[in-house]
Amino acid sequence: MPNRFGSQPIEAFAPAKINLTLHVTGKRADGYHLLDSLVVFADLGDRLWLTPADEMSMEISGPFAEGVPADGRNLAWQAAELAGWTGHIALEKNLPHGGGIGGGSSDAAAVLRALDCRRDALTLGADVPVCLQGAASRMRGIGDVITPVEGFPSFSALLVNPLITVPTPAVFKALAWADNPAMEEFPAEHATQNQWLTWLGGCRNDLQVPAAHLAPDIDLALHDLRCTGGGQMIGMSGSGSTCFAIYPTLVSAKHAAFEVQSAHPDWWVRAVTLS
Ligand code: C5P
Repeated sequence: MPNRFGSQPIEAFAPAKINLTLHVTGKRADGYHLLDSLVVFADLGDRLWLTPADEMSMEISGPFAEGVPADGRNLAWQAAELAGWTGHIALEKNLPHGGGIGGGSSDAAAVLRALDCRRDALTLGADVPVCLQGAASRMRGIGDVITPVEGFPSFSALLVNPLITVPTPAVFKALAWADNPAMEEFPAEHATQNQWLTWLGGCRNDLQVPAAHLAPDIDLALHDLRCTGGGQMIGMSGSGSTCFAIYPTLVSAKHAAFEVQSAHPDWWVRAVTLS
């Protein structure tokens, strides 16, 4: 029976989310941290197909399907319920989870976007509102204040995940000091890639030190990225463990991918375009 969403499968793309910067600027009484972060998205991600039906069901495939719940614990399932939709969700899990690149949050946001639901995204997690935006954005508050960054240039980059899961609450807990300065004022509109890179050079990820303390392979990934030729900015996304480097071209990012992957055949290494 067609419902108000029709009867055809809806396809949705859940791109990897990258925090190019992540300044922790305070801590609220309820334990949540105040953030100031520049977030962009990769041309690589999970894929979902939503087919309306009378009951909820879920099926998970792809290289990172193992260990992902196919029931009400899955954020994509919870997003469908939030949108008042029932049916079958097929999820192709291409992104490593617990890696600071959105994972479940981006899946949930893709479901909300596909079902045209824009409300209460924060109830699914602090990263869901920015993933719902799906384009270069400044994220403030606890993740609830989202401002699009108009004219942000696209960058070629390499993503490297040493395939270790770092639990976000543990990283925030290991942060020694929460009251850090916010990001500097953004470059003017229509700024060039180089102007953005100079600006990015003055930014931080305040979770990098505590995350690397919990998972020392993060420092190894950052070191190996620094050793590749041509990396223009090197950092860690979210609470880790995915690290990234920006390169002048996609070809140079692919060369770097070859170097890092050869040294670490078991790591997740992908050249991407960020925008
Ligand atoms: O909202 P989400 O489930 O993604 O957050 C996971 C955990 O990360 C929270 O329980 C909290 O410990 C920490 N967190 C935080 N401040 C934020 C976002 C997350 O302390 N702004």
